[in-house]
Amino acid sequence: MISIAIDGPAGAGKSTIAKRLAARFGCIYVDTGALYRTVAYGAVKSGILPEDTDGVLRLIGKTEIDIAYRDGEQIVLLNGENVSEFIRTPEISEYASRVSAVPQVRAFLLGLQRKLAAEHDVVMDGRDIATVVLPSATVKIFLTASAEKRARRRYDELVAKGMDVKFEDVLGDLLERDHRDSTREIAPLKPAEDSITVDTTDLVLEEAIDAAAEVIENVLKSGDKN
Ligand code: DC
Repeated sequence: MISIAIDGPAGAGKSTIAKRLAARFGCIYVDTGALYRTVAYGAVKSGILPEDTDGVLRLIGKTEIDIAYRDGEQIVLLNGENVSEFIRTPEISEYASRVSAVPQVRAFLLGLQRKLAAEHDVVMDGRDIATVVLPSATVKIFLTASAEKRARRRYDELVAKGMDVKFEDVLGDLLERDHRDSTREIAPLKPAEDSITVDTTDLVLEEAIDAAAEVIENVLKSGDKN
């Protein structure tokens, strides 16, 4: 089995790039952020605050989360219901970042992520894939870009979806989320010791995909020799 781990901060282009790499290398694409977003969505719907650990624990005790593929796209299922269209708002982004710091939430989602990688060739993106979820991943990429550039891309995406947002707010939210994701005690966002960093600040999408694909090809080739 091949597993390609792609970690990095919000807005580095992980999902777009990971999706394209999955198609190129014949893998399924697993967006693990969507799983944390689904927990967050369930909590918001039940009126539970992310800091209410008991409430969150009760919620995950009676929650089933799974992923499926529809027309080649990953969808997320919350107790069997497709909630994919509800999890991409700024509110859920923030909630997901907060709820993902709860150790039991991470433990709850770990099994599903490992099962997917055991059963399929995967390109999996997230924050802790190379460090925690798949420490023996075949290829480990840390995908990053300057905060300004990441915020600009996220802003353009939200505007394209018709959302009324300010650039300064998008940048502020992103910096806060980076800080929270990288300073939490459990599974913080950081490169694994053997990750290869790809910085996409000055790369257009196709260049970023090629840069990451080159890393993957080199690692796979060196594996063939060993
Ligand atoms: O990648 P994303 O923006 O969809 O992720 C949403 C939040 O989920 C992110 O702020 C942190 C959390 N997350 C995580 O803690 N670990 C992962 N493997 C993926 C996401």
